[in-house]
Amino acid sequence: FETGRLAGLRVLVTAGPTREAIDPVRYVSNRSSGRMGYAVAAAAREAGARVTLVSGPVALDGPPGIERVMVETAEEMRAAVRAQLPGCDIFIGAAAVADYRPAQAAAQKLKKRDANLSLDLVRNPDILAEVAQGEPRPFTVGFAAETGDLDANARTKRMQKSLDLIAANLVGPGLGFDAEDNALTLYWEGGSESLPRQSKPQLARELIAIVAQRFHDASSD
Ligand code: PMT
Repeated sequence: FETGRLAGLRVLVTAGPTREAIDPVRYVSNRSSGRMGYAVAAAAREAGARVTLVSGPVALDGPPGIERVMVETAEEMRAAVRAQLPGCDIFIGAAAVADYRPAQAAAQKLKKRDANLSLDLVRNPDILAEVAQGEPRPFTVGFAAETGDLDANARTKRMQKSLDLIAANLVGPGLGFDAEDNALTLYWEGGSESLPRQSKPQLARELIAIVAQRFHDASSD
């Protein structure tokens, strides 16, 4: 891991979950703690980049030397990413953005009733896919959180979202989400590499080293 590999570059990272309101006190979300994305932001900073972290609600302090923008919903994360995107060289989407949100957030706390309750959910925008389709477009890195068939699902996601690189992890009880360590398999055009299970900060350094390498290779084409 070489420090200085990202000197002079601007890196934008998303981390954590999003929360989608059901009513003023309830929400739809997921188990992301933000640890992976925060470690990626810190590793990019260590490598010399100017880093902005767009973070969903997490219990973590902002890493030193990094500009942090806190958001709650997918729509807010999308707006913050759009605002930060100009001049960005590398985008890394580590956030677990909720794919769906309640069609309407109730203005008042929903009352308990005897009948069952159904939630009508609508699709959220895909922030990562939008970044990858933008013009100009940063070097775009996504994550894939899978409960099985990691290789096929990650390759498909990378192609569908037109990503330069995808970092795939298996998730489930004690795996990936809300854990201290993680393992990643990286896929890019014509290559892949598996990074074994280790602490998220150490894993993030290895990921950033490969991202820096691929970024510089792509820039010199
Ligand atoms: O936060 P931790 O507890 O440390 O856990 C880390 C992690 C498991 C959350 C992280 O390593 C991870 O895998 N993050 C991506 C989780 C995810 O939402 O994966 P996905 O396969 O559903 O999404 C694929 C990619 O599209 C991701 O880069 C995601 O940020 C992006 N996405 C997804 C949906 C959406 N509406 N907008 C997006 O930008």
